Amino acid sequence: MADYEASTLLVDRNLALELVRVTEAAALASAKWIGRGDKNSADGAAVDAMRKAFDTVAISGTVVIGEGEMDEAPMLYIGEHIGLGGPEVDIAVDPLEGTSITAKGGPNAIATVALAERGGFLHAPDIYMDKIAVGPDLPEGVVHLDASPAENLRELAKAKKCEIGDLMVCTLDRDRHADLIKACRAAGARITLLGDGDVSGVIAVSQPEAGIDIYMGSGGAPEGVLAAAALRCIGGQMFGRLMFEDEDQVKRAREMGVTDPAKIYRVDEMARGNVMFAATGVTTGAMLRGVRRTPGGAVTHSIVMRSKSGTVRYVEGLHNFARKPAAMIG
Ligand code: FBP
Repeated sequence: MADYEASTLLVDRNLALELVRVTEAAALASAKWIGRGDKNSADGAAVDAMRKAFDTVAISGTVVIGEGEMDEAPMLYIGEHIGLGGPEVDIAVDPLEGTSITAKGGPNAIATVALAERGGFLHAPDIYMDKIAVGPDLPEGVVHLDASPAENLRELAKAKKCEIGDLMVCTLDRDRHADLIKACRAAGARITLLGDGDVSGVIAVSQPEAGIDIYMGSGGAPEGVLAAAALRCIGGQMFGRLMFEDEDQVKRAREMGVTDPAKIYRVDEMARGNVMFAATGVTTGAMLRGVRRTPGGAVTHSIVMRSKSGTVRYVEGLHNFARKPAAMIG
């Protein structure tokens, strides 16, 4: 199908639960590698299981956010066609978000997938994106990527009718964020530093129980699109700007459809139309419990959401390995 405007597709709601089976498969497969110090095998197992699980889903899917270019990724590469056949949809995947933390047995690793009508996702190259996100029910534009951390925190505190000291910032624990972290602390805010995993870090701003008021900082652009897909379903504001290191990256982005390299993207410019998002915990984090092994099987914990209804479902899966196809558990 040509472009988003031309698409009349109505994504079927049953697909949302199918997506959970896909993320469960990736999580179960990668969970075998938790704490084994081998992030590539953990990632490979997740990719393999997720790819196979897609073979059972009734879609004509095209991967637009995936494991890389066709020549560098054997499966779930950008442009790969997946699914049994059915509605034409675009797919964004991160089979294992948090490869290093899985290898170390740390918290917060997830397997995640998003689906949109054809043309619904920003085709983000694999570079960094500068991100800022806040939860729902706040004035549009209350925070801005070009404002200083202190200004953003002041405006957010005003909008939330609280003190800056009440606010919890979340960012990745990286040297490149040293100034950001310093500025937030100097302004009086508290900070949660993530080892890895900014998809769930961004989503946390729209989950009141997570206790995160604002996400700031740079991380993967593909991860930015996945997080935007989730916020498209549950509400919240996120702004993202691609961070180019050289002209080659700009050229590649233009080839992928980016017309203005300096553009600040809103949620609905990164994930448009009918969108679904699903994730399964690999290791336990604020959003999801990790895979728990049981005698002869495992228990998984997943979240699935749809933009059309705004419904968020948590799904607990009790898996019996004796009856499950081996391909679905890695
Ligand atoms: P991986 O799963 O590829 O290890 O990514 C984890 C992650 O923390 C993402 O959540 C984040 O967007 C990105 O890495 C940040 O990249 P970097 O580690 O280079 O700061």
